[in-house]
Amino acid sequence: MSKKLLLKDAHIEGIRYFETYRKQGGYTAAEKALKMTPDEILEEVKASGLRGRGGAGFPTGMKWSFLAKPEGVPRHLVVNADESEPGTFKDRYLMEFLPHVLIEGMLISSFCLGSNVSYIYIRGEYSWIPDILEEAIEEAKAAGFLGKNILGTGFDCEIYVQRGGGAYICGEETALLESLEGKRGNPRLKPPFPAVKGLWERPTVVNNVESIAAVVPIIDIGGAEYAKIGVGRSTGTKLISACGNINKPGVYEIDMTITVEEFIYSDEYCGGIPNGKRLKACIPGGSSVPIVPANLLLKTVNGEPRYMNYESLADGGFATGTMMGSGGFIVLDEDQCVVEHTMTLARFYNHESCGQCTPCREGTGWMYKILKKIENGQGKMEDIDLLWDIQRKIEGNTICPLGDAAAWPVAAAIRHFRDEFEWHVKKPELCLTQNYGLANY
Ligand code: NAI
Ligand code: SF4
Repeated sequence: MSKKLLLKDAHIEGIRYFETYRKQGGYTAAEKALKMTPDEILEEVKASGLRGRGGAGFPTGMKWSFLAKPEGVPRHLVVNADESEPGTFKDRYLMEFLPHVLIEGMLISSFCLGSNVSYIYIRGEYSWIPDILEEAIEEAKAAGFLGKNILGTGFDCEIYVQRGGGAYICGEETALLESLEGKRGNPRLKPPFPAVKGLWERPTVVNNVESIAAVVPIIDIGGAEYAKIGVGRSTGTKLISACGNINKPGVYEIDMTITVEEFIYSDEYCGGIPNGKRLKACIPGGSSVPIVPANLLLKTVNGEPRYMNYESLADGGFATGTMMGSGGFIVLDEDQCVVEHTMTLARFYNHESCGQCTPCREGTGWMYKILKKIENGQGKMEDIDLLWDIQRKIEGNTICPLGDAAAWPVAAAIRHFRDEFEWHVKKPELCLTQNYGLANY
């Protein structure tokens, strides 16, 4: 059974409220941290090996250490709660049921980074959650854990919640900062990174909800102990939101030592595939990461079992591996149509492109049109090669990763399921009447 750090108290009634959270030991990590120096906290976070939980997996301690500290310029912590990656809903769970873990993590992180004004930028569709967060902030403030001179340390910290307008692109950190400044959420060119020039051109750390929440157990048990959980550079625990063709969709906390097979089939997690269907493929890290067929999902290219961690999922590189990404685990059974699935994603990325770069603006729409044609039985064999060519021209040629995110699913689908694309072209009459997967070959 995986160790629980973030969700260990999730089952306790009333844990959403300060009084219950405090009774369970809440805010003791904050009390401990406020007696440490910011540098000592930073060392703990570095020692923990925590990697960004939003998708990129960038080491959090390293990101914090990049924060510029020019004299007299305010610094900010911004929590990225714009969780919009299809298949990803683990931050929603944390904020809805354990808001004080996030607020406590923000207090510790703000103290470490020297941020007196910190923000939570939350996606517009999570319309009921800002009220929960604002209530938690008020409770923490009333108990002296936010506001002026927190616990008599002389440290002041305010947290504000900003609602997004529902654009996926505002989850990209620089688009998020533009939006927070009241502008259209267009991504900025990097560098400069937000750590140097972020919100209102001030040094800013942008971190995912789960990353900041993880700071609480790190301070609680110490960075070195946290690093002992998991394996290799996949330290600590990770929240996975599981959905698709599984018996038990939901949010699970894993310690990154379990295999993909165990995660899908064990009753502790997804509980297998409904109606005894066969596993066809999986997208393990949210819609942007490459789809993996069952044979490569259950073992790596080296024949080892594939584990639910950063290194194992990426084994084989982009040619055969995939990514941990945001932990949005989507399972497809044998009846699912990869072409239809890829088309749906292409439509999504086309709709969400901000339109700044030509390869993304034009390429995503073009890919969607071709995929729609193939899915509707009007495709030609050369369309498959054209699709391949377009995604190659998008990848790596855009301002922000949305371009890559649109290209990778198409590339992986063609790489692993080319026969299914060809089948759509060769037997178009069947495309219009039924979905088909491995079972139909
Ligand atoms: P990235 O790799 O460009 O950056 C990761 C983080 O490290 C950023 O905060 C960046 O500012 C920082 N960083 C990197 N190099 C730095 C340097 N030299 N100095 C200072 N800071 C530095 O990736 P990005 O664009 O932040 O995220 C892309 C990922 O987001 C994708 O892998 C995707 O899986 C995920 N994603 C997650 C979504 C969600 O809903 N959770 C939605 C869409 C994408
Ligand atoms: Fe906008 Fe797409 Fe360019 Fe990102 S890659 S800046 S979403 S056009």
